[in-house]
Amino acid sequence: MKHLVANWKMNFVNLDAWLQDFDLNKISDEIKVVICPNYLDIEDFYKKSSKTHKKILIGAQNLSSETEGAFTGQISGKMLRNIGASYSIVGHSESRLHGEDDETILNKVQTAFNCDLIPILCIGENQDEYSKGGTEKKIKHQLTENLFPLKNLSKSVLIAYEPIYAIGSGIAVQNEHLEEVSLIIKELVRDNLGRDLTLVYGGSVTSESAKNLAKVDGIDGFLVGNASLDPKEFANIAQSLE
Ligand code: PGA
Repeated sequence: MKHLVANWKMNFVNLDAWLQDFDLNKISDEIKVVICPNYLDIEDFYKKSSKTHKKILIGAQNLSSETEGAFTGQISGKMLRNIGASYSIVGHSESRLHGEDDETILNKVQTAFNCDLIPILCIGENQDEYSKGGTEKKIKHQLTENLFPLKNLSKSVLIAYEPIYAIGSGIAVQNEHLEEVSLIIKELVRDNLGRDLTLVYGGSVTSESAKNLAKVDGIDGFLVGNASLDPKEFANIAQSLE
């Protein structure tokens, strides 16, 4: 099963207009479509999409590492689950930039499980690490800190490989690089968890770049930011996954 995930970030999206222009008939049943609106739109989008676009699944862009209690300004995974979310992005580079450390991210993955949400764990190197040949080290570090301590992990997890320099840059990574990293991730996951996990790529995916990226072995889908704001473009990206 392939995954196509939309990360709408903090953009204003007209939900009715987006749904009206998003043609689910164009998308194969073999692809799970997960839309991650901002927190405030989740419930509304869930209600609207479950009338006309039943196949769409809903995700949050983040969640608290706690489940309940005196945590001012935080949003619980339980609350997200209650309003229709079944996934949550965890550890996006834009959240890591604003102070999320590895321990917090590990706790968030665990909390997502506890709240019956499927975490989409984002990992990836920055430009400097890439230039110095440090990609493998960074990937290994993040998986070791953010996921592998959760031994006996039997629940679903998506890993999103998102090299930071590719996000929002208009330039996706080269297939050779993606192929190399996908092999590294799959092998690390197998060695440490004894199973395979779904791996998606994110970073300037468009209908154009997706055609090429989808050829990479081991890539089970995409996490799409900017291009997912346009429902027609987003549906075209799905076509490349078939
Ligand atoms: P982008 O964002 O597709 O706009 O590069 C991807 C992401 O940040 O998840």
